[in-house]
Amino acid sequence: MSTLLGATDARLGATEFREIGGIVHDVAGIRLPPGKESLVRSRLAKRLRARGVATYAAYLELVRDARGDEAAEMVDALTTNKTDFFREPAHFDFLRERVLPSLGTGSLRVWSAGCATGEEPLTIAMVLREALPDLARRDVRVLATDLSRRALARATAGRYGDAAMEAVPSVLRRAYFTRDGVGWTAGPALRSLVTYAPLNLMREWPMRGPFQVIFCRNVMIYFDRATQQRLVRRFHDLLAPGGYLFVGHAESLSGVQHGFRYVQPAVYAK
Ligand SMILES: C[S@@+](CC[C@H](N)C(=O)[O-])C[C@H]1O[C@@H](n2cnc3c(N)ncnc32)[C@H](O)[C@@H]1O
Repeated sequence: MSTLLGATDARLGATEFREIGGIVHDVAGIRLPPGKESLVRSRLAKRLRARGVATYAAYLELVRDARGDEAAEMVDALTTNKTDFFREPAHFDFLRERVLPSLGTGSLRVWSAGCATGEEPLTIAMVLREALPDLARRDVRVLATDLSRRALARATAGRYGDAAMEAVPSVLRRAYFTRDGVGWTAGPALRSLVTYAPLNLMREWPMRGPFQVIFCRNVMIYFDRATQQRLVRRFHDLLAPGGYLFVGHAESLSGVQHGFRYVQPAVYAK
């Protein structure tokens, strides 16, 4: 009977939901607590269709097959990639007015950890371009990483529709993007500053650092306390003394032990 159902109608049993939650937690650190069943069904319906299976039992067989990469596809489909240009704008005012003047004139490394579709690293790049008159003479780079290859492919393409671009002031839009019939493309002044790379925050990090600034916003909210704790320690290790960590406004570090100094909501200094 179930093979006659469309993938969106496939029944997700409690055991299957638990198994999916276990895999997503092991691979990406993401929690899928009870109550997220309908989210899982809506996000995975496309994967079931793509793989031509009509039940979660059949789908999980593909996921368990270590020779395929369906586990990675499944985790990717279950990530939440919502983001915006100038999201939580107080952070970018603080970056421009307080952080950049405090860092001197040496090389500058900024990491957007969990950059989703790229609005955050491009916002950082616009702030750097606007705020650093000596940028051309300095070694300045923004690293933008995400676990989701789907989101990262969009970030790398650097193309955005009118709705996304509404958050970008028109003077910056004109300075840093080109427009064609379908949307806007980030231009070389921004793209030359940003390097995109896939990276799972739960695994080894190939970068040695140090970074002067790390943005990890609206990512840790999906992790449990122990995972947040480990991650915040690793960010601390990778930051230069005097460097800054920005987290999402819904993600205070209360309950997490850390060596940072609290500066203002969702901003911490080493
Ligand atoms: C809601 S978006 C946040 C985007 C941006 N930082 C912002 O605040 O607008 C969260 C991103 O974290 C990524 N993510 C989740 N778990 C991750 C992990 N273990 N490693 C790397 N990225 C992860 C997701 O793929 C997603 O793109």
